[in-house]
Amino acid sequence: MQPVITNLLDEAFQVLQDNDRSSYTQPAVDLYPHQWLWDSCFVAIGLVHKDPQRAMIEIKSLFKGQWANGMIPNIIFNNDPAYRTDRNIWRSWTNPYAPDNIATTGITQPPVLAEAIFRIGEKLSWPDRRTWYESVFPYLLKYHQWLYSERDPHQEGLVLQIHPWEVGMDNTPPWMSELQNHQLSWWIRLIKDTHLDYPITRFRRDTKHIPARERFDTLEALALYDIQRRLRRKAYNIQQILDHSMFAIEDVGFNAILIRNNQLLENIAKSIKYPIPQPLLSSFKKTRQSFNQLWDDLNQIYLSRDFITHRLLNESSIAGLLALYAGSIPLDHAKALLHHIQDKHSFGTNYPIPSVPINSYWYKPDRYWQGPTWINTNWLIIDGLLRYGFIEQAKELRQSTLSMISNVGCYEYYNPDNGSGLGVVNFSWTAALAIDLILSPI
Ligand code: GLC
Repeated sequence: MQPVITNLLDEAFQVLQDNDRSSYTQPAVDLYPHQWLWDSCFVAIGLVHKDPQRAMIEIKSLFKGQWANGMIPNIIFNNDPAYRTDRNIWRSWTNPYAPDNIATTGITQPPVLAEAIFRIGEKLSWPDRRTWYESVFPYLLKYHQWLYSERDPHQEGLVLQIHPWEVGMDNTPPWMSELQNHQLSWWIRLIKDTHLDYPITRFRRDTKHIPARERFDTLEALALYDIQRRLRRKAYNIQQILDHSMFAIEDVGFNAILIRNNQLLENIAKSIKYPIPQPLLSSFKKTRQSFNQLWDDLNQIYLSRDFITHRLLNESSIAGLLALYAGSIPLDHAKALLHHIQDKHSFGTNYPIPSVPINSYWYKPDRYWQGPTWINTNWLIIDGLLRYGFIEQAKELRQSTLSMISNVGCYEYYNPDNGSGLGVVNFSWTAALAIDLILSPI
């Protein structure tokens, strides 16, 4: 191993150790003190290389926050009195399914859980693997059943999301343009028209840690909290939320991740001979079939769509490339996505892969999910490229990802033009996935 890579490996393990809160790992110490769903899955994928027991704890602590209906929330709040405001913003206890004595949000995040469970299993000897799978499978199954029962109400195969936080890409263009065009409350429009957002920015907590231009802008932040407040008013009851025709999008990235994780769930079930109910298997199949309705032939990319009207949302983003991770798309579509990754006018930047293509009106290389390169999406795409047999391209992306991280450190995201580190430093999933990329050579 080259010395720079050895250094990165040591540094990455150190980041995970520093962010370790014994039952879970904070994504970053000050800015993200709670437990996040997909963060913990990525963390477990890195941790398992050193300490499978600790990786199992990371996953099992997610189940403490699971709701009685199967939902796993995107955040399980730290109980410290210092975070009472965060818990009160959500008031998860107003929903009868929420767990007692543990405060959570009322929404979920991309389902990479089966991936983490599967990868932990692969590092164990067979008897331990079986025990591990058997101990977690009922929770995993219940979660996927919830995704279909609540989030695919018309049984069309694609699951819907009700907040951009559910797709883990808070200010991603397809969601932001829908928000601006259809969902902005009158008071946010007023703030916009009167430019009151500038003084409000001074009260933001996140911009005390990170320069404002690297986060979502204040109007976007207000809009995100406004939708959250509307969901809270309905006590996170999906029926009521949909009856009031609130925001509902079938996100391409979320559904791509679901397809692959359905497959992994099936693999786990098979290895422990656990029967999956037939209706759920039919839903899995339907998702794989319906996913191709998200293909935009004109732009040769997958797009998200509006749940009610089925209109494709005409903004490309990294979510469309996650179709490679799904593994179920036709080869010619996979090749077209690869072309986007290599095209200098699209996603082919110096430090790939940007969260938004450079030919998009939205592209801003420093701003959160509107341009910067993130390590989790690179990791998912590398995994997808490998399964499609694009080995050289996967190797290249792995190499560029690792050198980008080792140049500047484990940042939250990176500038795709010059590779500088952005957002918080010592970010857990960057460290964890760097470990996995280093220790799983292609
Ligand atoms: C941000 C990211 C989200 C992540 C969370 C914690 O909100 O957009 O994907 O889970 O931070 O790291």
